Amino acid sequence: MSILQAEQLTKTFETGGDATKVAAVGGVDFSVAKGEFVAITGASGSGKSTLLHMLGGITRPSSGRVVLEDVDLATLDDDALALIRRRRIGFIFQRYNLLPELSLLENVALPLVLDGKGEAACDAAARKALEAVGMAARSGHRPDELSGGEQQRGAIARALVTEPAIVLADEPTGALDSANSARVIELLQELVHGQHQTVVMVTHDPDSAAAADRTISMRDGLIFSDTAAGAGVS
Ligand SMILES: Nc1ncnc2c1ncn2[C@@H]1O[C@H](COP(=O)(O)OP(=O)(O)OP(=O)(O)O)[C@@H](O)[C@H]1O
Ligand SMILES: [Mg+2]
Repeated sequence: MSILQAEQLTKTFETGGDATKVAAVGGVDFSVAKGEFVAITGASGSGKSTLLHMLGGITRPSSGRVVLEDVDLATLDDDALALIRRRRIGFIFQRYNLLPELSLLENVALPLVLDGKGEAACDAAARKALEAVGMAARSGHRPDELSGGEQQRGAIARALVTEPAIVLADEPTGALDSANSARVIELLQELVHGQHQTVVMVTHDPDSAAAADRTISMRDGLIFSDTAAGAGVS
């Protein structure tokens, strides 16, 4: 069963005074099955983050469609889209995006607090998510009191706290040493294989990509290969 579909998806940015156009994503089609772990790889600037932001309803496409759990995201107004983002999508940003004035625990609990859940339930779920990424001991720290890798693990906990239908991760191991990278990858694999979660992960790291069931490679805003683990290039 497909949980996410990209259909002829494009994004063109117009920049600055000279109105230069950048075709960041140039027409991408694929679908992700429920319970699949997909890696997206490609050189810097090949459009990976732009694609992931469109899949997560953060950036509106220039053309084409994103269908998540049978809902065409283009049909939603900004409020409805924000709700889907909060409840159904766990997004791990390349630059973490933790709020500086909140503690780590408050950052992780935030999606639940915004949804009007009770304080005790928010607190318990946030602690559990922080434990899963090995960050329980830093719950009271603010982001500027954490290392880059610790902030990244905190951002992962925040993405998982709502038990979303799909996790979209932009370089989730980019700031981590090899031991913590392995831990994050194991956590994502356990989500997929143990709990039938769905994960789409952008990564530069061949070891992280190898942990996925399938690898989509991008070049210049287009897919140039889409390969199941252990199979040849299709
Ligand atoms: N807001 C924007 N305005 C203009 N151009 C943009 C914008 N965001 C991205 N781009 C351009 O689109 C292209 C794709 O960017 P994107 O961030 O998707 O790449 P990426 O594959 O994620 O790269 P990296 O591996 O470095 O994170 C780049 O050439 C970039 O300069
Ligand atoms: Mg990127």
